[in-house]
Amino acid sequence: MPASPLAGELSRSIFPALRLRGEPRLPGDKSISHRALLLAALAEGECLVTGAGDGRDVQATASIVAALGAQVDRIREDGLNVDYRVSSPGRDGLREPEGILDCRNSGTSLRLCAGILAGLPFLSVLDGDASLRTRPVARIIEPLRSMGAALFGRRSDSLPPLVVIGRSPLAGIDYTTRVPSAQVKSAILLAGLAAQGPTTVREAVATRDHTERMLRSRGVEVRRGASTGGGPVSWTIEGGGRLRATDERVPADPSAAAFWLVAGAIHSDAQITLRSVGVNPTRRAAIDLLLRMGARIAEAPVRPEVGAAGSEVGEPLADLTVSSSELRAIDLEPGDVAAAIDEIPILCLAATQARGRTTIRGAGELRNKESDRIAGTADGLRAMGARIHVDGDDISIEGPTPLVGAATRALDDHRLAMTFAVAGLIASGSTSIDGAESASVSYPSFYAEMERLRA
Ligand code: S3P
Repeated sequence: MPASPLAGELSRSIFPALRLRGEPRLPGDKSISHRALLLAALAEGECLVTGAGDGRDVQATASIVAALGAQVDRIREDGLNVDYRVSSPGRDGLREPEGILDCRNSGTSLRLCAGILAGLPFLSVLDGDASLRTRPVARIIEPLRSMGAALFGRRSDSLPPLVVIGRSPLAGIDYTTRVPSAQVKSAILLAGLAAQGPTTVREAVATRDHTERMLRSRGVEVRRGASTGGGPVSWTIEGGGRLRATDERVPADPSAAAFWLVAGAIHSDAQITLRSVGVNPTRRAAIDLLLRMGARIAEAPVRPEVGAAGSEVGEPLADLTVSSSELRAIDLEPGDVAAAIDEIPILCLAATQARGRTTIRGAGELRNKESDRIAGTADGLRAMGARIHVDGDDISIEGPTPLVGAATRALDDHRLAMTFAVAGLIASGSTSIDGAESASVSYPSFYAEMERLRA
């Protein structure tokens, strides 16, 4: 099977907005949507996943779940979000897929599926598009091998396609991740479900904890060790746990919301409200960084929290309203980068409009995303007149700088496409984005929401 074609070949022009007003619809949280589908596949019975993001990444996971033998039905869709009904024979009933599992552009599908497949006694091959084939996999091969699965990747086990020959049971491990990564942590915990004995993952910086919350709400014991702040943390799961089939309501995606938070903060005549956004402490860093920069963001908690039906460990939600702001520069440390890993490109745009020099230290992991996001962000914003300096893994940005419309390249990376589109709203003249269409990897109606906001 050929890799899926590159997503974002189409170009689009963005013109400055006189004002921004309204309530853009947001996609369901991408991280939670993937996990809800995968955990539904592991639980015997029927689960409803309501409000999943309908971007291409989550669609890839849905197709993989179906290829493993669960029945996946789309029971409602609105061009942005989708409700799924998943009926699964449960972990022991999943079957060897007949073909290659196509993760398309989605690193989360690749890493999380590898963790599950490591504990299933058959052969699978995970592949994806040209971008996915450049994403590192040694970080999951190493721990999953040490649990007893056989995994092989291209270029001396460093790149996809990834071959997984699973084994059941696996052996539990105690593992410290080398890079802060929720995908690696989740892959190991999901493999730990199929292990004999406990599996512990330790991380120097706490990453998003959706897998842990969602396992708990499905009846699996997951113990947390060490600090409750942003410092070192460990998670332990007992092997052999069975998941309860559990419905999930997916909250609105805070990483998608970040584009509108920055748009509202940097535009001189803006007021934008975002409803029921997930504000899990491990996901809200971009909101807090923008508040530190002086952004006018009002936050109103929404009750009840959402997540798995009947669970006590749902995801906290809030309505967020952002208005035009006077931003000031801040310093981001490596821990801030890990916590706001998907929001750094749009925060760089915010920094171009902030008074002073914003510094971002230790951003190297951004080179391992859908594109080299350090180079891609710097090139695009520089073309628009921004003053950005990259020194190794560190970025510094001087502001405020008026932006001018220019030709930018999204490098088939959804977050770059949306960053340059928001920049185009405040730039003079027209901004073209080569590869604009890649936004629909995570946010299918992004440009339609943008048009509504400026109307
Ligand atoms: C994700 C974790 C992050 C993030 C990605 C989604 C997840 O990746 O960049 O968009 O759902 O676990 P890493 O954990 O590899 O940094």
